[in-house]
Amino acid sequence: MHPHGGPPPKISLPGIKNILAVASGKGGVGKSTVATNLALALRQLGHAVGLLDADIYGPSIPIMMGVQGQVDQETTPLPLVRHEIKLLSMGFFVKPEQALIWRGPMVDKYLRQFLMMFDWGELDYLVIDLPPGTGDAQLTLTQAVPLTGAVIVTTPQEVSLIDARKGLEMFRQVRVPVLGIVENMSYFVGEDGKRYEIFRHGGGQKLATESGVPFLGEIPIDSRVAECGDTGDPIVHKHPDSPIAQSYRTLAATVQKELQAAASPPELPEVKF
Ligand SMILES: Nc1ncnc2c1ncn2[C@@H]1O[C@H](COP(=O)(O)OP(=O)(O)O)[C@@H](O)[C@H]1O
Ligand SMILES: [Mg+2]
Repeated sequence: MHPHGGPPPKISLPGIKNILAVASGKGGVGKSTVATNLALALRQLGHAVGLLDADIYGPSIPIMMGVQGQVDQETTPLPLVRHEIKLLSMGFFVKPEQALIWRGPMVDKYLRQFLMMFDWGELDYLVIDLPPGTGDAQLTLTQAVPLTGAVIVTTPQEVSLIDARKGLEMFRQVRVPVLGIVENMSYFVGEDGKRYEIFRHGGGQKLATESGVPFLGEIPIDSRVAECGDTGDPIVHKHPDSPIAQSYRTLAATVQKELQAAASPPELPEVKF
């Protein structure tokens, strides 16, 4: 992994108070959507927020945040600002067909450059959308960046839960606190106001309990999420009063609470010898 053995040194980012990784074992579970709306929800709660799209294999945050195509660094200062969020994506620089041949150490190298080369200023939160999977790309990323904590996204289906568990184990291995699990596409509220559990519901909570990590909440299915994602105006920003936007803000508040808890572990009882 590193020529001298052991993990490479972590980079230092003193201007950023909290660095959150949003991760999942599996693609397509809504990781980028959660990362984006969580970032916006944290902003709505009054924080200075950055969003880094490190999913070089499928960078989707530029589209979700309304940035089209490649970005010309000569004319556009980076990080970009969209919806009051500082934004940077590997997708600004890398063509998808190039990314496919990247190995873990290359991802690590570019991510380091990304974080250090650009002026993020003072941030309360930097949310990072990690590439899916638990291979060496993810492992090197988690070792390069001084992560404050990880948020694991899953859907209620068993296949997704299995991969979420692998993701969780990966963070434990590198000693990054897992702040908890979010269940996305948890249920659907019909026009009749009834709640429908399309996939089985409750798997996220169960996984959290089994693994001894907090359950951070559930996000319903809402067709407007995809629409908003495609038009570059995420639902938390476009429909801030919708129930789903509220569930993202609840998630943001819970993440905040878990971060505080992780920062101040319970005091050990006094031991007398
Ligand atoms: N809660 C949700 N309700 C409806 N659609 C969703 C929800 N979350 C994600 N989606 C949609 O699912 C698809 C995959 O989401 P995405 O965030 O790109 O997943 P990932 O980053 O895990 O690959 C997108 O089309 C997105 O709009
Ligand atoms: Mg994604």
